[in-house]
Amino acid sequence: MASSSRLGPKEKGKVSVSVDVRGRLGSMSKTIQVYTNDPSRPVTNLLVTMYVKDRLHMSKFTAGEIFSDRCKRCHVEQGMGKKGFELFRADCIMCHNNGKSASPIQGMSKKPREYISNAIRNGVDGTSMPGWDARNGGPLKDEEIESLVNVIKGAGF
Ligand code: HEC
Ligand code: HEC
Repeated sequence: MASSSRLGPKEKGKVSVSVDVRGRLGSMSKTIQVYTNDPSRPVTNLLVTMYVKDRLHMSKFTAGEIFSDRCKRCHVEQGMGKKGFELFRADCIMCHNNGKSASPIQGMSKKPREYISNAIRNGVDGTSMPGWDARNGGPLKDEEIESLVNVIKGAGF
């Protein structure tokens, strides 16, 4: 909705936009097209980006909570049976990506293999990174963890 259908040169107006976010989660964007009688730029595209949080994601959580019953259907079960990048995409990318709470793959790839493996197995103290090793109550076996280390080291750029 535009605050006025007629604006003189240099005059300002407001455009209010409402977005139906039902069923959406995470980053989303919408393009809004503004049509005017300006001959040199009749259509202006405005991009609105937003981050949709649901109730589960509004509350505080502790590392390892994503393995709990409330969270695992999305944060653990999607990765089951997967390895390598597919597994990274299912279980890790929601935190390890540009604009998210943890470093993207390129940033992590510079660390030594041992360090990466240890961080995945045991988690990182004082952060939301849980220990994924089955020995620590996590959901991943040795070969799965190894495949993730390979993905991270392979990114190497
Ligand atoms: C219905 C599926 C679903 C459930 C249930 C769920 N999550 Fe998520 N969660 C997601 C998705 C999808 C994303 C990635 C959103 C994005 O990146 O746009 C996400 C992202 C996250 C992130 C990353 C936020 C960031 O920006 O770094 C955290 C932390 C998280 N969830 C914690 C939890 C916790 C804790 C629970 C349980 C209390 C939970 N989630 C339950 C689907 C779910
Ligand atoms: C709930 C969010 C979250 C999830 C899911 C998550 N991590 Fe993390 N991870 C973090 C945070 C926060 C850190 C510490 C800050 C940082 O290093 O960016 C971290 C640190 C790390 C580190 C150490 C990086 C460094 O440079 O010191 C590695 C390696 C890592 N995570 C790998 C993974 C892998 C592989 C997965 C998927 C199995 C995963 N993480 C899932 C949040 C998460």
